[in-house]
Amino acid sequence: MDKILVTGGLGFIGSHTVVELQNEGYEVVIIDDLSNSTEKVLDGITSITGKKPLFEKLDLKERDKVERFFEKHSDIKGVIHFAASKAVGESVQEPLLYYENNISTLVYILKELKKLASVGFIFSSSCTVYGQADELPITENAPVKQAESPYGNTKQIGEEIISDTCKVTPNLKAIALRYFNPVGSHESAKIGELPIGVPQNLVPFITQTAIGIREQLSVFGDDYPTPDGTCIRDYIHVVDLAKAHVVALNRLLKNKNKTNYETFNLGTGTGSSVLEVVKAFEKVSGQKLNYKIVGRREGDIISAYADTTKANNELGWKTQLTLDDAMRSAWKWEQKVREL
Ligand code: WQD
Repeated sequence: MDKILVTGGLGFIGSHTVVELQNEGYEVVIIDDLSNSTEKVLDGITSITGKKPLFEKLDLKERDKVERFFEKHSDIKGVIHFAASKAVGESVQEPLLYYENNISTLVYILKELKKLASVGFIFSSSCTVYGQADELPITENAPVKQAESPYGNTKQIGEEIISDTCKVTPNLKAIALRYFNPVGSHESAKIGELPIGVPQNLVPFITQTAIGIREQLSVFGDDYPTPDGTCIRDYIHVVDLAKAHVVALNRLLKNKNKTNYETFNLGTGTGSSVLEVVKAFEKVSGQKLNYKIVGRREGDIISAYADTTKANNELGWKTQLTLDDAMRSAWKWEQKVREL
């Protein structure tokens, strides 16, 4: 089967996608700079699928190494590009680090892809491009708004770079996948969200509080105009999200794409509030969670959840796993990850 490059393939979403690509029969080569992961993730992937992906530790900012990589792997038929810095708060403090790491590297990869006979490119984008959408649920036609952070801006700029390049590169076709909130872990608990530093995201903070690493979860505000006053998000199980990447890649490699640059929202289509997520965790774990309501977090939007019509109809993909499944797998991973 075709050889697929997965950049950032040892990361949270990347590693789950590598598993699904191998399940589909693809040969996978991973590039990762290990800035936000470890090679132990490679063992986790291998123990799930029984196949060890090729792996090259490589910083995509080193353009000459990127060039040499593609000379060595000129038989690559598809690329799924996850490698990027993704901490919203950090991006506000270190904008140039984000523009260099997320944009320059994308340009270097696209320059190499232009040299290949034909290649499908999947870009890891984010619902963050919509900001606080005027209409809910959010469709792909919702206006892209002024980015709330340099991180979000790198996703918007990345989409534009890819769209512009596809317009003048007949051998390149691309899909940008706009994720809502990825949560959960593979049922085997052999891969998951690696805990490096204090979690910024809700679900890892919940599981670290439950296991005793964190004292208490702070719920950032319950005075929003929502049913229970807390913010609403579309929490999508990472395994469903990973499977969507394989479906999108197949669409390109089988020439089923309608235009040579497409975007798809990837979510469940259902919004859940912070307190609903907490309650789902308490239900599946059988544990009471220690939390308190505090002030709002700067930059948070009130509500975001996907209109999944386009992905359902065009990709023939829809989520199969529930919020409870995500909480159960996140908790199982939290209890296991300390042993790895
Ligand atoms: C979810 C909700 C918080 C932590 C971010 C990025 C987005 C994507 C996913 C990369 C919010 C509340 C959180 C906590 C809380 N990342 N919360 N206490 O902000 O929707 O999206 O991560 O692509 O681009 O913006 O996710 O998990 O940080 O927050 O109350 O300790 O949980 O206020 O309402 P977010 P999140």
